[in-house]
Amino acid sequence: MRALVTGCAGFIGSTLAESLLADGHSVVGVDSFNDNYSRELKQQNLERAQSHGAFDFVSMDLTGGELGDLVEDSEVVFHLAAEPGVRPSWGSRFEQYLRNNVLATHHLLEATKESPEKRFVYASSSSIYGEAERLPTPESITPAPFSPYGMTKLSGEHLCRSYHANYGIAAVMLRYFTVFGPRQRPDMAFDRFFRAVLDERAIELYGDGRQTRDFTYVDDVVAATRAAAQAEGVEGEVFNIGGGSRISLNEVIELIGEITDRPVEVNRTPRQRGDVRDTGADIAAARDRLGFQPNVGVEDGLRRQWEWVHGSTVR
Ligand code: NAD
Ligand code: UGA
Repeated sequence: MRALVTGCAGFIGSTLAESLLADGHSVVGVDSFNDNYSRELKQQNLERAQSHGAFDFVSMDLTGGELGDLVEDSEVVFHLAAEPGVRPSWGSRFEQYLRNNVLATHHLLEATKESPEKRFVYASSSSIYGEAERLPTPESITPAPFSPYGMTKLSGEHLCRSYHANYGIAAVMLRYFTVFGPRQRPDMAFDRFFRAVLDERAIELYGDGRQTRDFTYVDDVVAATRAAAQAEGVEGEVFNIGGGSRISLNEVIELIGEITDRPVEVNRTPRQRGDVRDTGADIAAARDRLGFQPNVGVEDGLRRQWEWVHGSTVR
């Protein structure tokens, strides 16, 4: 298979690209080196894929570049490029969210409508649910984003649905729940917590720490994303991709103390705008239709992430 992976220099996109390459597929990766975090980190994410003969990298902004040939030459489109992050999506940065989440998705779908039979996997987010009225949350709950970020990710889903309904684009949407593991973005909780412990600084905890997340290990997310490219009869559908259990941040911090075997100091600061209290994925549909089964739990995944944080040089 020849796959197009957008956002291939990012946390999840680079892990997906490597997984495809390792199984003998060829990959064309696109990334704009958006400034949500350092270019150096993204280049480090890309290193392994770039050492592979079956990988081609295209440095391009999806909102401006010519995408026709890239889509044409691929059998599957994995659309992971986005402006991620809940808390920075207020204020002036919202323009970037609109551009990188809505316009970029629109541009890519426009390029794909010429060959609609191609599977188009869209990386959506648990943030489209907002303060979900039911936990674990099934896909059928009415979305109610609680942040501008969530609103733009939901817009991307709506675009995929529109292009599926009108042009027959074989889009499949996946709602990832807070992803963690090696290469996690530097604005996300676990990366910030581990680096604070490593540098003997206090962890900055937003709120009372009793908020919960259905944390999902990156390799499980990659497996689900690949399954969505192959499963039959799922065009136009949306699936939750969650780790399978909810855990509070206070419990995570306790685990971090055990795993690092170092003193953990916590500095409590106010809850942040846009952060929901709880997330929890009902993954029955992904299990049944995609054969999805999360394999790495929070403790095991945290150990793997700590090992990586220890070994990584650029920060
Ligand atoms: P990331 O920032 O590490 O990766 C996204 C990549 O997309 C970046 O390398 C960025 O440079 C690139 N990009 C952004 N705008 C672009 C554009 N216009 N053209 C080309 N490239 C562009 O983020 P991530 O955490 O790996 O997230 C990947 C996807 O998964 C995103 O769609 C995000 O919304 C979604 N998601 C992530 C999580 C999570 O917990 N990390 C959870 C739910 C959904
Ligand atoms: C994550 C990703 O960042 C989003 O891109 C993604 O779309 C979203 O998951 C999702 O599941 O849809 P978030 O749940 O905020 O968003 O993930 P983290 O940044 O890892 O934060 C987890 C929790 O830790 C939040 O409650 C946050 O307030 C808290 N936190 C984060 C802290 O207490 N301190 C920090 O320094 C960072």
